Amino acid sequence: FPNQKNQCFMKELTTLEEYIIRAQNKFPGATGELSQLLRDIGLAAKIISREVNKAGITNILGYEKSENVHGESQKKLDLFANEQLISALSRSNITCMVISEENEGIVRLSGESGKYIVYMDPLDGSSNIDVSVSIGSIFSIYMRPDGDKALTEEDALQTGEKQVAAGYVLYGSSTVMGYTTGLGVRLFTLDPSIGEFILSSEDVKIPEYGNIYSADEGSYNFWELGLKKYVKHCQVIDPKTDRPFKARYIGCMAADVHRTLLQGGIFMYPDSSKYPNGKLRLMYECNPLSFIIEQAGGLATDGKKRIMEIKPSSLHECTPIYIGSRKNVEKLKEFISESDETPAG
Ligand code: AHG
Ligand code: MN
Ligand code: MN
Repeated sequence: FPNQKNQCFMKELTTLEEYIIRAQNKFPGATGELSQLLRDIGLAAKIISREVNKAGITNILGYEKSENVHGESQKKLDLFANEQLISALSRSNITCMVISEENEGIVRLSGESGKYIVYMDPLDGSSNIDVSVSIGSIFSIYMRPDGDKALTEEDALQTGEKQVAAGYVLYGSSTVMGYTTGLGVRLFTLDPSIGEFILSSEDVKIPEYGNIYSADEGSYNFWELGLKKYVKHCQVIDPKTDRPFKARYIGCMAADVHRTLLQGGIFMYPDSSKYPNGKLRLMYECNPLSFIIEQAGGLATDGKKRIMEIKPSSLHECTPIYIGSRKNVEKLKEFISESDETPAG
């Protein structure tokens, strides 16, 4: 028999669509276009989530023959997610161009009349697909600078500070969507039985300190001295500061940052002798997740500079990133700057 106390009544639920419309109604001058754009992304996310969940029982797994702009093999789900998101953004004339990890150049959308530019990583953490581990989608939204001029790639090269909205979808043990429009971070959880994202948290705040560090520690010998020392610091036994930290690394930035958002700590993908500029992409991985983490009260840096102040010079450029709880990121920065000041040898 259903337990009355545990029943969830409909009046207590807020769907993503309702939430976005209510938020828009608080701004009398709003045109509703950004709201529509977010709803379009929500629709694509539901379709991708459905495919992700049945990936193991269909033949969708496996490599597609083509390679993406970074020379990596593209998997079928990467292409599927890319198509779904572009198709969702093409439904209305709100988005003039899309920049995707899966497309080398800008993708111009219908009539180029839309006022928003969207960056996306349609499927983040692709190497997790075959082993049924968490993957995600990441998006970042900018205003088109001047509506009358012909669109160029230059229009898309804006600093992260100019983002008007950003978010991610995590296809994990449940599907979660998080987004910000600069007024805090909202989280929604997909109820697959009714096909709706339901509001789960309206103003998420990251703990100011956390006892988890997250990095591909197998690459330790490629790292700079400051980072090596910081990770050793995380491993010191000191109950007063909750050390040693736990190590967690999913290999999907969206998932690692989502955990960091909720539980605190630090996620790191550094520059190294293997990846001199880091591996993660500034425009569709680092900037959107930095916007989310800053809106939740955390920090995101490349070691010296705030991620969202980096002036991009190309669509697919990489940056080192250290992101998470304020106190953890500040401590990491101390280690990096101390070792920069130490003469080599
Ligand atoms: P993508 O699947 O979009 O190429 O991104 C994978 C990224 C990121 O999500 C993750 O944090 C990182 O690559 C993992 O890299 P390593 O395998 O080098 O640890
Ligand atoms: Mn990615
Ligand atoms: Mn990807």
